[in-house]
Amino acid sequence: MIAKSTRPALFAGMLAILGTATAQMYPPDSETGVPGDELYRACGFCHGAQGQGRQRLDAPAIAGLEAWYSERQIRNFIDGVRGTHPEDLPGRQMALITGMFRNNDATIANVSAFIEALEPGGPLESRPNGELFPLERPFAWDSPYAELNASAPGDADAGEQTFQVTCALCHGANGMGNAVLGGNKLVDLPDWYIARQLEYFRDGIRGADPRDTFGMQMAAMAKLLRDDQQIADVIAFIETL
Ligand code: HEC
Ligand code: HEC
Repeated sequence: MIAKSTRPALFAGMLAILGTATAQMYPPDSETGVPGDELYRACGFCHGAQGQGRQRLDAPAIAGLEAWYSERQIRNFIDGVRGTHPEDLPGRQMALITGMFRNNDATIANVSAFIEALEPGGPLESRPNGELFPLERPFAWDSPYAELNASAPGDADAGEQTFQVTCALCHGANGMGNAVLGGNKLVDLPDWYIARQLEYFRDGIRGADPRDTFGMQMAAMAKLLRDDQQIADVIAFIETL
């Protein structure tokens, strides 16, 4: 749950930004949709102005994510296929803003193309005084999914074996993704986000909805991971790619 004291500040900030974007005059049935750069201004509040992510809001780096993958995820959030589970506070935050897409295919395609064109690995956001934003969440999220509980730091060598046997088919031997099989590029995703998604897939928080044909395939794979340690190992390898 979000602590009462920080909730108003967080959401006041969000709403101010959403207000700016929704004030734009693009009817929901527009054939051209809202331009990607304009809509993205509201995404940057959580995902960072250059798509570099913001860990304190649990929002992953999305710069360079394939447009076909982003479009599918945005649809999943809109349709309630992703981001509805009570344990999934980050996903529910993303689901909160889906009204901005106005269910408009062109708008979704525009912002997805904009994200794909962003250069991955942009600098972390800093405050006007040059100080970096802290990594800690501004609210308490008391959940087993808030952190990975591995007993030791990830072992990239052990992780490489797992990756090549269990993951490479759909995400590519180099983690660059496989559009034909629907597995997206993993190399630019932050370690903490990958950890959470693997736990979500494993535990039926993501990829359990029968409409989620791609997520269901991934969920079957995540269930092959023995424990949190094996997750940490495979992530340690992905981080070397
Ligand atoms: C209130 C904060 C917030 C805002 C604003 C926000 N997002 Fe997100 N978004 C998140 C969080 C948190 C996640 C991760 C959800 C999870 O962990 O499952 C996410 C996930 C995503 C994903 C899936 C990433 C992946 O690798 O699967 C996409 C795509 C995305 N957001 C696009 C957008 C776009 C486009 C906008 C702007 C129109 C936007 N987001 C605005 C918080 C936000
Ligand atoms: C049978 C094909 C397949 C295999 C094998 C597979 N994946 Fe996936 N994976 C997918 C698909 C498809 C998606 C996209 C799901 C969606 O669209 O929601 C995905 C999504 C993911 C995501 C979420 C990405 C994001 O941006 O949110 C992660 C992390 C991931 N896979 C890691 C792995 C790891 C690690 C392995 C090996 C243990 C693995 N996958 C094996 C098909 C596969």
